[in-house]
Amino acid sequence: MNDALGHPQSLLVLGGGSDIALATVNALAAQRCRTAILAGRRPEVLDRAAADLRRSHPDTLTVETAPFDALERSGHDKVIQELFARPGGIDLVIVAFAILGDQQVDQEDPESAARVVEVNFTGAVTAMLAVVKQFRAQGRGTLVVLSSVAGVRVRKANFIYGSSKAGLDGFTQGLADSLIGTGIRVLLVRPGFVTTKMTAGMKKAPMSTTAEAVATTIVRGLESGASVVWVPSALRYVMGVMKLLPRAVFRRIPS
Ligand SMILES: NC(=O)c1ccc[n+]([C@@H]2O[C@H](COP(=O)([O-])OP(=O)(O)OC[C@H]3O[C@@H](n4cnc5c(N)ncnc54)[C@H](OP(=O)(O)O)[C@@H]3O)[C@@H](O)[C@H]2O)c1
Repeated sequence: MNDALGHPQSLLVLGGGSDIALATVNALAAQRCRTAILAGRRPEVLDRAAADLRRSHPDTLTVETAPFDALERSGHDKVIQELFARPGGIDLVIVAFAILGDQQVDQEDPESAARVVEVNFTGAVTAMLAVVKQFRAQGRGTLVVLSSVAGVRVRKANFIYGSSKAGLDGFTQGLADSLIGTGIRVLLVRPGFVTTKMTAGMKKAPMSTTAEAVATTIVRGLESGASVVWVPSALRYVMGVMKLLPRAVFRRIPS
């Protein structure tokens, strides 16, 4: 149950090893979040992340880990139902899992391309619907979804990842609209280039940012009741212009 100031006290991260999600858990723990469950596919990564969080918040935060694989869609409903089966349920869920893929490889290998879409989009659809089912049973809950500017206007240089994020972004908007009046909130997060392990070794894009900056923006968005946040916020205007460009112009912009 959110505390008296409306801050979440229990949260679940799907994609629990995500640098952005872990920075967000840190920021929410500073606001007296008491329980964090990191759910993901690699126990050793989750255990390390959990140990770091416990060291940073020794007296206030309980951290658990749990198995979750975005590709095992048929199990999502059951896994998520079990994760919610605790006194007080779960206040906030962060959907952070994704793979970037390698556009050059994926373009030549349809199975590899499909894996990007299955993790980032189809896996998110089943996981999010399973979460919303539990939120409906609780009568409340907040869903934070990591989309990307890559999905706002899809570029030729990363159209496989970009289209998976476009699907996720559209799905999240429709889901959020369908939940108005139910007590369930959705915050859609659209970062640009963030320096995390997902982008390690890549040349930084203009207006690049950090996981901590994304976390700060998420916390502010939760406090202000926003439905969409961009990181950095100026990307809202940059992408507004990008969306208006004719395709013949847009495709000539160097990646
Ligand atoms: N970094 C950026 O520039 C950027 C920009 C815009 C949006 N985003 C989005 O922000 C979110 C978090 O990204 P990040 O930068 O924090 O990257 P990250 O640190 O690489 O986190 C991605 C997480 O997804 C997990 N994951 C991948 N496949 C999975 C699967 N099949 N099942 C369960 N978990 C799986 C990874 O776990 P493993 O340890 O098992 O691989 C990893 O913990 C993603 O949705 C990403 O698309 C990132």
